[in-house]
Amino acid sequence: MSDGWLFSRDSVEWTTVTVPHDWAISGPFDKKWDLQTVAIEQNGEKEKTEKSGRSGALPWIGKGYYRTTVDLKEKPQSAILVFDGAMSEPTVYINGQVAGYWKYGYNAFRIDAAPFLKEGSNSIEVSLSNIEESSRWYPGGGLYRPVKLILGGDAMIDDWSIYFRTVKIEGKKAELAVEAGTIGDIVTGTVAMDISLRDAKGATVASVHSPLDAKGCHKDVMHVNNPQLWSPETPYLYTLEVKLFRDLRLVDQKSVKVGIRTVTVDKEKGFALNGVTRKIKGVCLHHDLGPLGAAVNKAALIRQVKMMKEMGCDAIRTAHNMPSTLQMEVCDSLGMMVMAESFDMWIYPKCKNGYARFFKEWADRDIENLVLNHRNHPSIIMWSIGNEIPEQWSEEGREISRHLQDLCHQLDPSRPVTQGMDRAEQALKSGFAQVMDVPGFNYRVHKYENNIKQLPQGFLLGSETASTVSSRGVYKFPVEVSNHAVYPDGQCSSYDTEYCSWSNLPDDDWRMQDDFPWVIGEFVWTGYDYLGEPTPYDEYWPSRSSYFGICDLAGLPKDRYYLYRSKWNKKDHTIHLLPHWTWPERKGKTTPVYCYTDCPSAELFVNGQSQGRLFKDVSSRLDRYRLRWNDVKYQPGELRVVVYDNQGKAVGEKTIKTAGKAATFKLECERESLSADGTDLCFVTVSLTDKDGTLIPFADNQLEFEVEGAGSFKAACNGDATSLEPFTSPTMRLFNGQLVVVVQAAKEKGTLTLKVRDKKDATLSAQTSIVVK
Ligand code: GAL
Repeated sequence: MSDGWLFSRDSVEWTTVTVPHDWAISGPFDKKWDLQTVAIEQNGEKEKTEKSGRSGALPWIGKGYYRTTVDLKEKPQSAILVFDGAMSEPTVYINGQVAGYWKYGYNAFRIDAAPFLKEGSNSIEVSLSNIEESSRWYPGGGLYRPVKLILGGDAMIDDWSIYFRTVKIEGKKAELAVEAGTIGDIVTGTVAMDISLRDAKGATVASVHSPLDAKGCHKDVMHVNNPQLWSPETPYLYTLEVKLFRDLRLVDQKSVKVGIRTVTVDKEKGFALNGVTRKIKGVCLHHDLGPLGAAVNKAALIRQVKMMKEMGCDAIRTAHNMPSTLQMEVCDSLGMMVMAESFDMWIYPKCKNGYARFFKEWADRDIENLVLNHRNHPSIIMWSIGNEIPEQWSEEGREISRHLQDLCHQLDPSRPVTQGMDRAEQALKSGFAQVMDVPGFNYRVHKYENNIKQLPQGFLLGSETASTVSSRGVYKFPVEVSNHAVYPDGQCSSYDTEYCSWSNLPDDDWRMQDDFPWVIGEFVWTGYDYLGEPTPYDEYWPSRSSYFGICDLAGLPKDRYYLYRSKWNKKDHTIHLLPHWTWPERKGKTTPVYCYTDCPSAELFVNGQSQGRLFKDVSSRLDRYRLRWNDVKYQPGELRVVVYDNQGKAVGEKTIKTAGKAATFKLECERESLSADGTDLCFVTVSLTDKDGTLIPFADNQLEFEVEGAGSFKAACNGDATSLEPFTSPTMRLFNGQLVVVVQAAKEKGTLTLKVRDKKDATLSAQTSIVVK
């Protein structure tokens, strides 16, 4: 149910929208929308101060109403209305009657619609309410995830009853447990179910058939020889096909993509996928998609995951809530492990009107829906029951942990359960940490060695790490390591030496992982910048999005991307130099140069003159994983680095140059063609360069965009956390020479052309075309 919805903020004026829809993303940005006077306790604050932009400075607070109609030829015998998430507190009306409601905006929920539907035209309405101070970040507003209506006869397979799991893999044989059930009372005939597993080519590799038990369920075991195992490197998917028969006649049929793989955690092997130990190289992600807001989009998710994989990342933590089904499907098929999270708070509120209002009454139901909706995704390797829950210190907290973890196990005995703890001593004293399958610690790596001594599990996870801050293309001098740096321009330095008082540098996490086998991996805060939480500028206006990302809000890599790539990507060499080399004001001034590379050593040259050969140094905090020439004097021209492998052989080099005059726009499309489905997207990176293609690294020209042909302009984003230009207007300034334009395919085939021009300088323009088929 995506087209033809009517939307209103006041139930007076209505506009037509397509679902998924985020009512707040077009802005305008204004600090009045979400101004708060609070102390952020997690950040160690004691005094209340005015915070702007904490939840994105976008108009997500308030009410929203959606309406649509469904025409039915006859009254359905069974009907399930499924929301993959609705922000928030949705109440659903069918033909004027309350058909169901939910509280948490991030969870999927289902409504038995059959009693309310009739033959002919049916009205479906959803009312939503977002209240102030209910979120620590930008939640978005509206029907931001898909809605579907499933119609059936008097017997129907229940999607959420279908459950597939790998019990064990021994030698070349996999043992799989399958189950499925029905919705509705089946009163007549002999009913049976057929469950079969097909490989990617469509061949049936296993099948079981049996009558349903008294509860309308079917449970069985399957064996598959020579299974193709799912992993991030080999995301092989099978199709589970469930068929329901009455008196030998097929009455319903469903298919689900599944994967064969095992997950284990223990003292001996740490975290193992298919029996093979690996350290999790993960990133935390909030749910928003930058300039697209919370409205979920498959093409945008694919771009996110591909970019992370190219960095060598193999896991995502869905901080701090239930993921969308679309995101999990993308992770299944591209090969990305997932920690699927649930809550940012339980009983004790972290913000005044957060989920704590609902926890007691709703937590079990929320966990149930999380697990039932998502347990067939091979990508999900663990559930998380919470993030930095304030109750860590208490026995009550420990018992809630135990309860929620048990609930996950009952619904899904195949996965371990974790949560991210930020108060190590208290959590270890109360036993909160010891009850978890996977004890996860957020930051404070210096406490790991003390923590492990008290953990019977014998391992721990860096459930949240780094929180290093930077702005793409911004370099501050002199370069300093700091946990509290702020500047008048509201930006952070891209030398990757700045972090928060509670956090650390990537290098600090890696030291622990490399030196101690019991650290089973990490989830970096964060893979991408997100809307809201503009730390360290929580009190600075204008600033409305985060600085934590490895990539900026537009999805463009910051320098840090290459630092993680140099450590995580084991397939390809990384040779990255920073800063850029266009510093007219810095002639003769000390301008440190860093090289991010997987190689142990490199030599740097400025205009051909050697700056010395450096080796990584295991004993040093900052030189173990980076090569740093701290005394380079800037001269315009050329910076060249040659990298050497362990044998001392030169294996690659990289040159960057001082930019000349702005001459042209470089437009880079991340897709070759788009599907004519009205939702597919292409992200086009726009860079202002000189005539030789070197980026003009300070450029902030105002650009205009126009899309012709088989598509439309969707959004633009320049990654500047202090920009108040709306994402959905076809004009934006470059931020440090770059921005991203998002274009959307039409439903008709053809060619889409994006034109980019400088608002003031008519000589600067470019265009690119993409086939829509
Ligand atoms: C953590 C928290 C995250 C985010 C992060 C910023 O403590 O779990 O949600 O706030 O800090 O560093």
